[in-house]
Amino acid sequence: MLLDVRDLQVEFHTRDGVVKAVNGVSYSVDAGETLAVLGESGSGKSVTAQAVMGILDMPPGRIKGGEVLFKGQDLLKLKEDRRRKIRGADMAMIFQDALSSLNPVLSVGAQLGEMFIVHRGMSRKDARAKSVELMDRVRIPAAKERVNDYPHQFSGGMRQRIMIAMAMALEPSLIIADEPTTALDVTVQAQVMELLGELRRELDMGLILITHDLGVVADVADKIAVM
Ligand SMILES: Nc1ncnc2c1ncn2[C@@H]1O[C@H](COP(=O)(O)OP(=O)(O)OP(=O)(O)O)[C@@H](O)[C@H]1O
Ligand SMILES: [Mg+2]
Repeated sequence: MLLDVRDLQVEFHTRDGVVKAVNGVSYSVDAGETLAVLGESGSGKSVTAQAVMGILDMPPGRIKGGEVLFKGQDLLKLKEDRRRKIRGADMAMIFQDALSSLNPVLSVGAQLGEMFIVHRGMSRKDARAKSVELMDRVRIPAAKERVNDYPHQFSGGMRQRIMIAMAMALEPSLIIADEPTTALDVTVQAQVMELLGELRRELDMGLILITHDLGVVADVADKIAVM
């Protein structure tokens, strides 16, 4: 298994008491597989994903128990600097709201390029060329002319594709997409899902897809977990 989450338990310690947000969740996904995660609002889908990615706010969050085995290694036992290397490079996340996940004061090219500068030690010039290549790959029209544009200058669908570009920049083995298309209209949703599926096949990635959309689930999921 690429990712094997076992009996994960996450709590939040708030002023009003302890919230047991995730109470013994287990799911797994293999390379090239799509796992759809369903469940009512507040059931802990996003918190589970955050715990897997290692981006949970701690405090107030606390991992009470369980294992997150990624390629056989328990991520919960790793030091933060080792986890940071895995995050972004080998495991990436796509969020629902691209506008608030992209930095508004940096050009899209600068944000994409940063991945290659930080993780691959590339020069600014080479990183810029890579950014254009990625934008092309997720079908941003006129990528070369638009690489210096800022997030607000792109449409919602384009921004979501830029988020996908950023997530797949370093060709991770696993992508977690948390309602990646909820904020988009139906046609654009379909395009984004198609792109995600195409890249997953090309790179043989594992994909965890958190969604409320049963149509999407029926189309793309190999496995389903209901929380
Ligand atoms: N930082 C936090 N502090 C306190 N409680 C939190 C925090 N983050 C999440 N929670 C709680 O954890 C529970 C699970 O939240 P989560 O965001 O995972 O739900 P979800 O399944 O993703 O819901 P949705 O479908 O609405 O996105 C909720 O009760 C939520 O209020
Ligand atoms: Mg959520």
